[in-house]
Amino acid sequence: MKLLFFLCFIILLGWLGSGIKKPSAEVAVKPITVLTDTIDFTSQVQPILVKNCSPCHFTGGKMYEKMPFDKDTTIINHEKGILKRIKGDENVVLKTFIQQNKNGPLNNAPSGSSQ
Ligand code: HEC
Repeated sequence: MKLLFFLCFIILLGWLGSGIKKPSAEVAVKPITVLTDTIDFTSQVQPILVKNCSPCHFTGGKMYEKMPFDKDTTIINHEKGILKRIKGDENVVLKTFIQQNKNGPLNNAPSGSSQ
């Protein structure tokens, strides 16, 4: 009997809780720009490159050997050349990704200028 009462209490709490949370859940819809979040290479950066730079810089393309765009380090190490070819919102996403990572663990290519 005690248990049943306890269960009712939990259900009531859950119900009240969901009632309170609803309004704020609707406000949480975000605009496209994600500048303050960490940009993810595979899900956010790569689709932009596939869209704009296929087939040449992807598997089987003529530039894949020299500049494979399925590798995050390629993007970070060719910042200028890549940013000048991609405009608008996509440019912002790429630029932010590069800024978030160029001094981080992803940039392990020998460059001489930094440690
Ligand atoms: C039609 C094939 C093709 C496509 C599509 C292509 N590239 Fe290239 N890319 C090349 C070739 C070939 C070279 C090497 C010759 C040269 O420098 O033009 C190159 C060189 C580069 C270089 C190094 C030279 C430089 O100018 O800085 C960068 C950076 C680059 N590509 C970025 C991109 C980006 C970013 C895209 C997509 C927006 C893209 N490429 C799409 C073929 C392509």
